[in-house]
Amino acid sequence: MPLVIAIDGPAASGKGTLAKRLAHHYGLPHLDTGLLYRAVALLMLDAGADLDDGGEAARTAARLVADQLADPRLRERAMGEAASRVSSVPEVRTALLSWQRRFAGGEAGAVLDGRDIGTVICPDARVKLFITASPEERARRRHRELAGRGEETTLAAILADIRARDARDSSRSAAPLKAAEDAVRLDTTELDAEEAFAAARDVVDRAREH
Ligand code: CDP
Ligand code: CDP
Repeated sequence: MPLVIAIDGPAASGKGTLAKRLAHHYGLPHLDTGLLYRAVALLMLDAGADLDDGGEAARTAARLVADQLADPRLRERAMGEAASRVSSVPEVRTALLSWQRRFAGGEAGAVLDGRDIGTVICPDARVKLFITASPEERARRRHRELAGRGEETTLAAILADIRARDARDSSRSAAPLKAAEDAVRLDTTELDAEEAFAAARDVVDRAREH
């Protein structure tokens, strides 16, 4: 069976960084599924559509093509918030489901990171990780990251964003952010990216032995 690693967790927990490193280490293709929701939001904003128009969001999701995942604007702070709004529409999630399943179902195996990978997209993944860190630590990480890209914001504004997004992502009825029952939880509040990678590698290596 190809190796599929499902990684979920809240904003700025370090799941994307970890997913990239695991993918490189095990030679697996990687999909950052947050980009799909960010791309739907960006296409809607570019078209002047209302982000709360669920029908338009679903039509936009159904038209999404891979080329649209490369836009550097997808990484901007405002897009995380906008993505969170469109991602609560069940029809948007359905439109993006088969794309993600196809990616995960390839012969080569895969690493996917997001909010519902272990629960909805890849319930049979060999390895499931649920990455957390305190909201304050996540806000510091995101603040550092955005400052590095020249996007000026305050730590307080980012912490408020993170709390709002945690609340919305965890409370929505369509595929809420939650750990799968068989996920291994990794709290990275006190870990740097290297230590988190080492801990995750141990989990994957143990799973591969069985
Ligand atoms: O990197 P960060 O965690 O800040 O954001 P992201 O992973 O790019 O996700 C942006 C938003 O998309 C999240 O707040 C979720 O609302 C949504 N999302 C989702 O609903 N399901 C996924 N599998 C991935 C992202
Ligand atoms: O994908 P997600 O939003 O969960 O987080 P990320 O974009 O992978 O990570 C946010 C920032 O935290 C990056 O700049 C990482 O270098 C840093 N970081 C980390 O990924 N893991 C740690 N254990 C500590 C910091």
